[in-house]
Formats: sequence, C-alpha cells, structure tokens
Amino acid sequence: MAHSHDAAGAVIRDRLNGDVPTVTMVLGSGLGAVADLIEDPTVIDYADLPGFPRPTVSGHAGRIVSGNLASAPVMILQGRAHAYEGHAMADLALPARALRSAGVETLVLTNAAGGLREDLMPGRLMLITDHINWSGMSPLIGPNNDAIGPRFLDMSAAYDPDLRAALQRSADKAGIDLAEGVYLWVPGPNFETPAEIRAFRILGADAVGMSTVPEMLAARHCGLRVAAVSGITNLAAGMVEGAALDHAHTLVQSGALAGDMGRLLAGFLAELGAVGS
Ligand code: HPA
Repeated sequence: MAHSHDAAGAVIRDRLNGDVPTVTMVLGSGLGAVADLIEDPTVIDYADLPGFPRPTVSGHAGRIVSGNLASAPVMILQGRAHAYEGHAMADLALPARALRSAGVETLVLTNAAGGLREDLMPGRLMLITDHINWSGMSPLIGPNNDAIGPRFLDMSAAYDPDLRAALQRSADKAGIDLAEGVYLWVPGPNFETPAEIRAFRILGADAVGMSTVPEMLAARHCGLRVAAVSGITNLAAGMVEGAALDHAHTLVQSGALAGDMGRLLAGFLAELGAVGS
C-alpha cells in the first residue's frame, strides 16, 4: 500500500541520489545554527516532502540539510512542527516514518527545555534518559499499521543505552558537563504554572518542554534507534523569584548553547564511527 511517508522518503532518497545518511538529527527551538556546520549541504524544503508538517513558529526553519558534520555524513531536520500549532497528532508521526522509509536508522532529537533542578541552569545540556508524557496524547492513537510497527509499543529502554553512552563519551572529550534526566512533555503552548512545576518535580521530572515525545514515539514505533538532548534555556516557572518566561528568551538562550550542542553532536558522530555502528 502506498503511504505518504513512503512518498516523502522517496523524495529524500532521490534528492540525495540514494546516498542517505543513517543518522538524522532534529534541531529544536533556536538550535538551527547547528545546521550551518554542515559541509557540502544538500537542502530539501519540507514543502517538497508530501505530508511533512510545516513549522509555523519562529526559530524553526522547516528544511532538511544533509551533508557532513566534522567529516561524518548526517541529515539534519532544521525545525519541527509541534502539537500546539494545531497539527493533528497522527501527522507528527510522518517525519520519523519518512526517514525510516528513506533508510535512516538512528534519530537524535534536540529541544529547548526548562530545568526543574537547581543544577539545570540556562546553558546546560541534559541527556534525556526517559520521559513522562503529560499530554494524554500520542501520534500512535488510531488504527495501527502492523507493517510499520506494533500496536502496543514497548517503552522500557526507549532512549538507546548505547547512543546515550556515545553522547556521554562525546561530552567528556569536548569538556561539556552533560547532565542526565527525565523530560516531561507538556503540549503547551502556554508555559507551566509554578504549581504544575512543583507537581512535575514530585512526579520525577527534571526538565519540561513542548516537543520531542511525539516524534520519539513515532520513531520507536517504526524501529528507529533514538537519543535525545535538551538544551536548558531557563529554570522552570516559579523557580526564579519575579521571573517571567517568554519565547524570545528561549531563542536567545538556545542560540547561546547551540555551539555546545554542535560540538556534542559532531563528537557523537565520531564516536558512532569509532564503534562501527
Ligand atoms: N517550559 C516548557 N517549554 C520550554 C520551557 C519551559 O520552561 N523552556 C523552553 N521550552
């Protein structure tokens, strides 16, 4: 049966002349500059990919940049669509499935997030070890296509331990103090209340944000290996006396940590090459 994710995957394959990098990275809010590090880029607009949800918020370009990062082949999704933009949840599953159809094996998701621990200060990177889905939603709700993945998806080791270890080795070598923690997904678009943040801390969350989990669910469902890294842009609501949160601040702070994110990801690709994945 023909699916639009297969059609989008075929466009990606064609545009890259069949030479599709096995590792893809999704850049979160304000992290788009990481794509500027790509050598010999081939650019594919999401507009050319059937069914690809298009980002509408600032800080999200909406294109694929494929090429080499520190000599390793990689494909970068510069910008993502979010549930709060009004996209149907099921549509948020399409990019991961299109990538899988194009031949991608590993997906690294990045995002901007608020920190719930005092040591998760703005500018710090946090490796996501696990997540809490605080939305009641999933892109997997609806009829299941068994050819793509199972009806009931196991999530026990959803964030790949080997990829996490490679990211920690990369951080060590780059002198980046990579924290670890649990990411809690809120659908947004409003920021959280201080009471919600206190509740989320009791639930076991370390960082909070409005993305990543939908793509991660779709990616695991279709058999991609997944890792994810948050760039902490602020302490969460209520943690700093008198502070208010806004998107402009998120973009400035994530822009400031894009350099570290780029070095972490470039080193990660080198680590993968080193272990022959
Ligand atoms: N909450 C939700 N999403 C975010 C935050 C936050 O504090 N910071 C960046 N993205």
